[in-house]
Amino acid sequence: MSLLNVVNVSHNFGGRQILKNANFRLLKGEHVGIVGANGEGKSTFINIILGKELPSEGKIEWAKHLDIGYLDQYSTLTKGKTIREFLKEAFNHMFELEEQIYKNYDEMNDCSDTRMQELMNEIGEMQSTLEQSGFYSIDAKIEEIANGLGLNAIGLDKDVTELSGGERAKVLLTKVLLQNPGILILDEPTNYLDENHINWLRNYLNEFENAFILVSHDIAFLNSVINVVYHIDNGVFTRYSGNYNQFVTAYEMKKRQADAAYEAQQREIKQMEDFIARNKARVATRGMANSRQKKLDKMERLDKGRVLIKPSFVFKEGRPSGKVLFRGENLVLGYDRALTKPFDIEIVKGEHLVIKGINGVGKSTLIKTLLGIIKPFNGIV
Ligand SMILES: Nc1ncnc2c1ncn2[C@@H]1O[C@H](COP(=O)(O)OP(=O)(O)O)[C@@H](O)[C@H]1O
Ligand SMILES: [Mg+2]
Repeated sequence: MSLLNVVNVSHNFGGRQILKNANFRLLKGEHVGIVGANGEGKSTFINIILGKELPSEGKIEWAKHLDIGYLDQYSTLTKGKTIREFLKEAFNHMFELEEQIYKNYDEMNDCSDTRMQELMNEIGEMQSTLEQSGFYSIDAKIEEIANGLGLNAIGLDKDVTELSGGERAKVLLTKVLLQNPGILILDEPTNYLDENHINWLRNYLNEFENAFILVSHDIAFLNSVINVVYHIDNGVFTRYSGNYNQFVTAYEMKKRQADAAYEAQQREIKQMEDFIARNKARVATRGMANSRQKKLDKMERLDKGRVLIKPSFVFKEGRPSGKVLFRGENLVLGYDRALTKPFDIEIVKGEHLVIKGINGVGKSTLIKTLLGIIKPFNGIV
């Protein structure tokens, strides 16, 4: 049974086609990575399956009774709530069940014997549900995940509206993981994480029993946690079994085959065109040339593989300076006349210094001389 079935979804933004007849299936326990260059439509696809964006065409079918956990970077956090309180909301459904247990007890104060038995049975069921879902170890669970993602360094008693962007993202991610959803959807979750938290998340995802869909530009991370790849290329979705490295191998082979087939067809076309050119003028061979032309017209032309332009960067390497940044001997500052008496000066790396003096004494002139904007009146620099 698929958890999610996406059938022939196409999507346009302002006349530009982003997705073309995309088909996507998510099975129980699959760990899917969506890969593709920037701007290919990965986040758009995620928004479409979450129902936040309506596709121009196609169908999205979710299995029933599935809880979807999604890291929404834009969720609003209300003031006056601590991180711990916010995280506890992940277990709201359990607190509601606990509340119901108390209500049953209240009702038992005044009810018939048959009703009493009913209420007792209900309580028994609700309690075992709570036990099975780990209600009695919520605090430990919160500590574990909060620790793993580095929230303890922030402190769980901090107000959720007093967080930096990165801290906020960590809190939201922690909550999603605490919900332990039937399917987890993560779009670039490592953006705000440090290396040790990424490692923690990697282990977490590897042990995650349910399905997830992950978008990440962190290839090493992606490679280590997924077992299915969906590649978006020019709006077209292709499914590959295996991790990212296996996808790259398979994709390159496919591309080489496609390139080879394209080249072979081009050679064939050239030969046919030559044949036609050589034979169409003569009456004796015109028939052959015409039939070859028909064959050529009917030929299904292969596309040349799209070549993506790879960006390249060149950085100039800077050399660190020596210890002495500036030295002046018998230095006299000035323009057409001297402003100072001769003095020696040395400025060493790491020094933070103050230049003091009354207006017009030559402070800016000293700076300009240091920078080489003006020549010293006298002396060596
Ligand atoms: N709301 C929008 N309106 C118009 N164009 C959009 C919108 N959202 C995304 N796009 C465009 O759609 C393309 C796919 O974007 P996106 O899904 O964010 O790519 P990815 O997540 O793969 O980097 C990009 O060219 C982007 O500029
Ligand atoms: Mg994106």
